[in-house]
Amino acid sequence: MTALPSPSAVDAATRVVALRTQHGPGLLGVPRDGLRLSWRAETGDAGARIEGYQLAEGVEGATLTASEPVASTRITGVAIPGSLAPRERRAFAVRVATATGWTAWSEPLVVEAGVDSADLEAAVIGTDTPADGPVPLLRTEFALDRVPASARLRLSALGLVDAWINGTPATDALLTPGWTSYQERILVDTIDVTPLLREGANVIVLAVADGWYRGSFGFARRQAIYGDRTGALAQLEADGETVAKTDASWQAGFGPLRSASIYDGTVTDLRLDDPAVHEPGFAADGWRAASVIDVDTARFVPRSAPPVRVVAELPMDAIAHDGRTRLDGGQNVSGWVRLTVRGRAGDVVTVRHAEVLEPSGDLHVKALRSAKATDVYTLDRDGEHTLEPAFTFHGFRYADVDGAEVVSATAVAISSDLAPRSTFTSSHEALDRFHSNVFWSQRDNFVSVPTDCPQRDERLGWTGDAQAFAATANTLMDTEAFWLSWLRDLEIDQTDEGGVPAVVPDIIRPQDMLMGGVQTPNMGRAGWADAATIIPLAVYESYGSDEVLRRQRDSMRRWVDHLTRRAGDHVVLAPGDYQFGDWLDPDAPGDRPWEAKVSSDFVSNAFYAHSARLLAHAERILGDAATADRYDALADRVGAATFERWGDEAVLTQSGAAIALEFGLAPTARRAEIADGLAENVRRENGRIATGFLGTPLVLFALSRSGHLDEAYLMLLRSEAPSWLYQVDRGATTVWERWDAILPDGSIHSGAMDALPTEDASEDDTGMLSFNHYAYGAMIDWVYRTVAGLAPDADDPGYRTVHVAPRPAVGLSHASASIDTPQGRLAIDWRVDGGVFEAALEVPFGSRAMLDLPITAESTATVGDAPAPAELRHGTHRIVVTAPAVAAPGAVVPA
Ligand code: BGC
Repeated sequence: MTALPSPSAVDAATRVVALRTQHGPGLLGVPRDGLRLSWRAETGDAGARIEGYQLAEGVEGATLTASEPVASTRITGVAIPGSLAPRERRAFAVRVATATGWTAWSEPLVVEAGVDSADLEAAVIGTDTPADGPVPLLRTEFALDRVPASARLRLSALGLVDAWINGTPATDALLTPGWTSYQERILVDTIDVTPLLREGANVIVLAVADGWYRGSFGFARRQAIYGDRTGALAQLEADGETVAKTDASWQAGFGPLRSASIYDGTVTDLRLDDPAVHEPGFAADGWRAASVIDVDTARFVPRSAPPVRVVAELPMDAIAHDGRTRLDGGQNVSGWVRLTVRGRAGDVVTVRHAEVLEPSGDLHVKALRSAKATDVYTLDRDGEHTLEPAFTFHGFRYADVDGAEVVSATAVAISSDLAPRSTFTSSHEALDRFHSNVFWSQRDNFVSVPTDCPQRDERLGWTGDAQAFAATANTLMDTEAFWLSWLRDLEIDQTDEGGVPAVVPDIIRPQDMLMGGVQTPNMGRAGWADAATIIPLAVYESYGSDEVLRRQRDSMRRWVDHLTRRAGDHVVLAPGDYQFGDWLDPDAPGDRPWEAKVSSDFVSNAFYAHSARLLAHAERILGDAATADRYDALADRVGAATFERWGDEAVLTQSGAAIALEFGLAPTARRAEIADGLAENVRRENGRIATGFLGTPLVLFALSRSGHLDEAYLMLLRSEAPSWLYQVDRGATTVWERWDAILPDGSIHSGAMDALPTEDASEDDTGMLSFNHYAYGAMIDWVYRTVAGLAPDADDPGYRTVHVAPRPAVGLSHASASIDTPQGRLAIDWRVDGGVFEAALEVPFGSRAMLDLPITAESTATVGDAPAPAELRHGTHRIVVTAPAVAAPGAVVPA
């Protein structure tokens, strides 16, 4: 690194933008420790390079104190030493140096710290109610002698809480406080409620529902998983003073919500709604004193990731169907229907949700299993009503309304509020639709935790689905804070022996699942538990900050060491353990999705080797070379032994070959032969996909990285079942769980399963069929990297180094993509026209693009007017390649 310019030298062409923390924009009351800053710079100087930065910090509004300049190109995840004080609002600014000089200081960023449990004076309060019963209201009044200049509400719950101040919802966050490993960690939201307060009497009302905490949940539908009493915690601070807090002086009563269940929906009796509850002097007849719930408040910690919010509202079409009104939002979403009806007092309005329709035209509700997914309202008067549920969400595109005349309806979509990060369009309409379907499946399933599906009695944080999808998720949305929070829960829920559960938060552990009659512990399953290593590295690669590795290193080590202990005296894990394996291989029996073609002994040991390798990589990044060497040696040993024992047979399957190649298990001398075999298999099968959850994210990479791009495209663009695009042709708007969820004859898969959630479950509980599971959407990562040709570098992560390697194909003559990288907008727009490849490439300041263009021996490649260099820096570049290489998927297949 060169010496930094003198402090007085100015670079007026460059400026710092978008200074932020790792917690996502706009979040108040963040954790006091471990703060990290990231920023971007923009420049008008084509030759500029970032050479250093300087931070300044101090009290908001005062002159900030600058620290020593640092010679570094770093712009992401810069750690702020020390802690913020509780409630502290500290301002930060940054400027960067180029060879020319220093930029102006950035706009200041004010970070507001949350409070620790020690600073919470509020108690958790509730009232005695049965699980899945009526939703209690908690209420207090307090007086203010003036309108405060600033007020904060700290809000959390054992269960879910909605809050109103003087009749106005305190926040647009939903399902507060979200789902975490509640036995150890419950989030506290900090909300700016300044505009809601007034001089004189003020009223706070809280509604407290069971949610994940106490409601019947999980496919075994256990109640009271985390505790048998629900309660809320609220503390209102105005101008630095606590003016209201939950305690035994609050009153408890009931409102219109007779029940609220995440799976089943809500029952609302509007005749019990008394708006006066929000007014001072409310009579509170029949109410009683709230009781304090004895709970260790050390569990309450500041929120660090965006909450769930409404992310889209889609108008629904209404038609008459079978004596009811059928609603269609045109898109499968997670959320509910906002419904305006005209009816009479006492009318009962029922809204039943479903993802797809039966061939008969009826709602297909079998896939929901025990989830009722129904909202019921009793009207309190004649006339128009706008109805919406609370504390629930449904996975649906369609809904049937009974009991009143529908005036209008809106599908309200909710999700963890993560900013979209990328765009993709191409000349291939079905591929574009699939991209949109994957985006929606992420949206619909990233509801506080990364779930498998949003509709049936499941919606659990299955670790296998999450790891398969992580790289794609990272490209589609800004997921860094979301993963950091969930990975914390993954670590909390690791067993003492380091085993990682198959669902996080782990609500299955005390029980086993019965898979094909085999008692199966929910722990340590290959490809699921490996989320512990795979996701941190994927986050690091996509966002460029080593924070995730620092935080998860211990968890990663515990998982890999657990596997080593399980292997005992052998190098590899003993055969025969129950594994989910390459789950939902299209050739597995429909009711035994774990019986994939590739041996699960091969798969489990391949993931063991892979996890050891990823851990070694993390150790090296964090500077512990000796430990890295040790885990690399372990990965070598396990990988070699695995291949020797199971490799020959495994590589005859698509998943086995893809795993052997992508995890580097196959001996170098055999790689070409295995890749050829895989390509041959794909060609023979006319691009038919034959992989399950574990092979699917890898198979296209295994082909394209080994010189078999034609076969990769053959698979990608195939539209007969099974394939990705088949479901698009069948009208899918999200990604299906099974390749053949709707069969070519239009009938719906039975979903039948030879598995029972518990011993006392009945066959009816076992169907497994969702139209909204993101795992197979994992190929979108390949689409960004290979079709668009924008890939982050594993060693210089966060798109600081970008591999630009677009690959046109017959049938795909145009693609356009953008990614909001830590450095700024990275974008490409390419097309092949008249035998010439032309691209506009936008590289953000701070990134370097390594060009790998689609050339043939006859090509000339230029950027602007000059021969194409190997590397490009920031700016917009025009790239032209004559006689380009164009993959020919069709040419290899006799029609
Ligand atoms: C879930 C899956 C999950 C699997 C593992 C299913 O019920 O929906 O996505 O990974 O179980 O067994």
